[in-house]
Amino acid sequence: MHWKEEYSVGIEDIDKQHQVLFDYFTLFENSVANGANWSGLHFILVQLRDFARIHFAVEESLMHLFGYPGTADHISLHQAFFRKIKQLEHESLQTDVTQGTLEYLHHWLVTHIMNEDKGYAQHIANGASPILTKAAGRKAN
Ligand SMILES: [Fe+2]
Repeated sequence: MHWKEEYSVGIEDIDKQHQVLFDYFTLFENSVANGANWSGLHFILVQLRDFARIHFAVEESLMHLFGYPGTADHISLHQAFFRKIKQLEHESLQTDVTQGTLEYLHHWLVTHIMNEDKGYAQHIANGASPILTKAAGRKAN
C-alpha cells in the first residue's frame, strides 16, 4: 500500500509523516507475505506504534492549537488504533497475522486520513487562528 496524492491533507509535514506510516504498513504487509518470523513482525509493529505515537501527538497538538471542535473524538480514534496495534503485537507473538488484520490496518489508515485528518486540516485551512492569546500575553518575569 502506498501513499497517493489524493491522501494529501495540505500540510506538508503531516503528509510526510503519513508517508512514513504507509511505509511501515507496506513493510509489515510484505513481511507477512514473505513469511517473516514472529520476531521480525513484532519488531515492525513496535516501530510502527512508536512512530504512530509521535505522529498522533503532533496531530493532537495541532488540533488543540487551532481549537478544532472534533479534537476529543479524533483523539478517541487514535487511542482505539493504539489498542488495536497493542492487541496485534500480542497476537503476532502467538498466531499468524491474518489477511483480515492487514485489511483492517489498510482500511483504517486510508479512511482515517480521508475523513478525520482532512477534517482538522480543513479547519486550519479555513483560517482558524492559533490559540496563543494567553501565552503571548503573559508577562516575562
Ligand atoms: Fe489522525
